[in-house]
Amino acid sequence: MLTTPPLSLYVHLPWCVRKCPYCDFNSHEAKGALPFAAYVDALVADLDFDLPLAWGRTVHTVFFGGGTPSLFPPESIDAFLQAASARLRFAPNLEITLETNPGTAEHGRFDRYRAAGVNRLSFGIQSFDDGCLRRLGRIHDSVQAENAVKLAQDAGFDNFNLDLMYALPGQTLAMAGHDIERALALQPTHISHYQLTLEPNTLFAAKPPAGIPDDDASWDIQEHCQGMLAEAGFAQYEVSAYARTDRQCAHNLNYWHFGDYLGIGAGAHGKLTLGSEQAILRRWKVKHPAAYLASAGTAAAIGGDERIEPTRRPFDYMLNALRLVDGFSLAEFEARTGLATAAIDTELHTALARDWVTRDHGRVVPTELGRRFTNDVIGLFLPD
Ligand SMILES: C[S@@+](CC[C@H](N)C(=O)[O-])C[C@H]1O[C@@H](n2cnc3c(N)ncnc32)[C@H](O)[C@@H]1O
Ligand code: SF4
Repeated sequence: MLTTPPLSLYVHLPWCVRKCPYCDFNSHEAKGALPFAAYVDALVADLDFDLPLAWGRTVHTVFFGGGTPSLFPPESIDAFLQAASARLRFAPNLEITLETNPGTAEHGRFDRYRAAGVNRLSFGIQSFDDGCLRRLGRIHDSVQAENAVKLAQDAGFDNFNLDLMYALPGQTLAMAGHDIERALALQPTHISHYQLTLEPNTLFAAKPPAGIPDDDASWDIQEHCQGMLAEAGFAQYEVSAYARTDRQCAHNLNYWHFGDYLGIGAGAHGKLTLGSEQAILRRWKVKHPAAYLASAGTAAAIGGDERIEPTRRPFDYMLNALRLVDGFSLAEFEARTGLATAAIDTELHTALARDWVTRDHGRVVPTELGRRFTNDVIGLFLPD
């Protein structure tokens, strides 16, 4: 029996100062002045269109992602949040995160983001090594990164994430460790540590940079950094996520627990459980900002709708839950997919036999081996 999980709200803001050569997100180089007010109107119209999918439900987290949300002035973020809170019930202690590119940080802005209701920031730092930052095509250097974080701290933000990438071109184990040290010195509550991947249709995929560490060297970097983070009190709770106690990202945790989310904005994806129909709906919006601006709030803004059929649900669930260090409970699997555990008996048996997971008291937890080969473990659950 499908039960209705917690609901999050994802808001996509699709512009960046410059497109990074490794990035396959729906982000577009800003050419000239951005249509902030028109985009906020489009977001609100888009939300109105999706509202019937979420009547009466409470929103537990909001996440402004991109792109570079920090290109938007605080007044735009404020206007959207006011409109959203008039339409949806916001939970008390709602987590509201805004992704921030250090190259866009300005004095005075962070106070206003806070006043608008943002209570968590996520900085796209990537590295503190200026050579690495240049090779990644970033618009900021390490000093700007540190200054941006300090500006936010001065404005009272004490809950923030730093995004770092590793296995960068020319990066040694010592360099990666140094990035962790500099990140820790800024006293974040959360660190996301992503292995650089060569995504199709990016400049890096077309022309891979020299000196990318191989799989073994990348694994060594990951283990080394994980150890440093653990020693500093940052427990790993997901493949790429580390946090101090009680500072895990509630928004991302909801994704990983196969919760529901409204996806508002150009190219945004949503997932909604429709209890009365015992169905799970995915809906995504048209990707290009111009097309989105022209159609938001009408059916033409819907890039696609798809029901996740029962045969596909185990794979979609595992794609998320097996990323978690603590794994998942079979009771949650049943509630979120509407399937009995028997539906995955064969696959679980194989994963156990290969020492990829353990199963105890109704919980399935990836082993260290399983964590190293997450994609293979998830692959077991692909529908025939
Ligand atoms: C949407 S971006 C966040 C914020 C902002 N756009 C920025 O880059 O400063 C999310 C994060 O994903 C990570 N990321 C993006 N592309 C990646 C790739 N190809 N491999 C690994 N991590 C990647 C980066 O750490 C980035 O900060
Ligand atoms: S700033 Fe972030 S979203 Fe924009 S292109 Fe770079 S990595 Fe992608």
